[in-house]
Amino acid sequence: MHIAIIGTGYVGLVTGACFAEFGVFVTCVDKDKSKIEKLKEGIIPFYEPGLEDIVKRNYKGGRLNFTTNIQEAVEESLVIFIAVGTPPRGDGSADLKYVEEVATEIAKNMTNYKVIVTKSTVPVGTGFKIKEIITKNLKKPVEFDIVSNPEFLREGSAVEDFMRPNRVVIGAERPQAIAIMKDLYRPLYLIETPFVITDVLTAELIKYATNSFLATKISFINEISHLCEAVGADVKTVAKAMGLDGRIGPKFLHAGLGFGGSCLPKDTMALVKIAEEKGVNLGIVKAAIEANRRQKERLTHKILEAFNGSVEGKTIGILGLAFKPNTDDIREAPSVYIVNTLLEKKAIIKAFDPAAIENFKSMYSEIQYCNDAYEVAKDADALVIVTEWNQFRNLDLERIKKIMRSNLFFDYRNIYEPKRLKDLGFIYHSVGRC
Ligand code: UGA
Repeated sequence: MHIAIIGTGYVGLVTGACFAEFGVFVTCVDKDKSKIEKLKEGIIPFYEPGLEDIVKRNYKGGRLNFTTNIQEAVEESLVIFIAVGTPPRGDGSADLKYVEEVATEIAKNMTNYKVIVTKSTVPVGTGFKIKEIITKNLKKPVEFDIVSNPEFLREGSAVEDFMRPNRVVIGAERPQAIAIMKDLYRPLYLIETPFVITDVLTAELIKYATNSFLATKISFINEISHLCEAVGADVKTVAKAMGLDGRIGPKFLHAGLGFGGSCLPKDTMALVKIAEEKGVNLGIVKAAIEANRRQKERLTHKILEAFNGSVEGKTIGILGLAFKPNTDDIREAPSVYIVNTLLEKKAIIKAFDPAAIENFKSMYSEIQYCNDAYEVAKDADALVIVTEWNQFRNLDLERIKKIMRSNLFFDYRNIYEPKRLKDLGFIYHSVGRC
């Protein structure tokens, strides 16, 4: 089978490369010429473990192609995935400008039956909007189907998530489209991946409901972490015991600095907006968003408090800038909020991240970027673990203690044991543990 993926951003590129790995012939399309040229040379525009290998191997093997020519890609493909961005507008709703542009382009170049699939996270009802746009822009009557096939790829483990997903969701109107989609995903069928076959609207909502539930789980445990600090309980043990209840499950119950990234913050806001437009109040999702904002504020405030409110001239070391480990993505990263607040209060910031420094540099040139955690710790008045990269899990703490100017240690991902750090002489703060 031959398919096209329009949009070589994160979702598009991972999807295209992984389908090629399944043996499908894939053409990835993007209007950004230089991006396409770089992809042909095997240069990936972002950091994602394992992706470069797959892209290079399948490009070489002739199963993965890159082009700016949408017409050619549409002509030769049976299935066309729309994987362009849906950035948030000022009011939190998703901007569908790019999706609509692509739908128009696809329609103009369609000469025979196609299955048009949305992979981008799009508001409920977008599939039908695309159907209207395509019908309006077809040059001659051509049969086609609309499918919603949301992605559940986590940055940092996207390839694994694609190859071994918890489920595949396919929302379509007609059996023919479902059969074609199942054929495309045949390798996953063979490893007994559950398939949820449903209508387009339900598939679109599944994606938002999933991300909003994950966000709610995180905000829930973060609120409990605050209470743990107030009563002297241990949030890690609370979460562990809660997670052992099969009805709850252990995942996404790690208290920390709150959820960031390009998905959970955006999708929770968009879902609230979608519901408002229909007159439905999603109080729980709203509360999850609000709790997330408070968590970042509360933990940043704790740093200021440790300096009696004034960090002016103090050197604060930040370990981790990416919104989570194994990515260079800093969108909605808690690090941005912390660094911004501390810089506003005239602190001196030193920072290290294994992947995200270049991205951070484009926002903050006034930071001293370091080559490792020890360079950050040297002469620092406080050290803050913001992202739980593996590199920070086994630091030589005695060495850190010696080279720091002061002994304030904020472990905002609960990596270390409080007793050990206190015994080493640190003033240790973590999340929801005393
Ligand atoms: C998320 C979903 O997990 C994917 O299934 C989905 O496909 C993707 O959004 C998307 O919509 O494209 P991602 O944004 O890559 O994936 O990151 P997550 O692993 O979900 O983490 C999100 C945030 O929550 C991070 O800031 C992370 O540090 C935080 N988090 C996660 C916690 O604070 N505690 C936890 O227990 C888990």
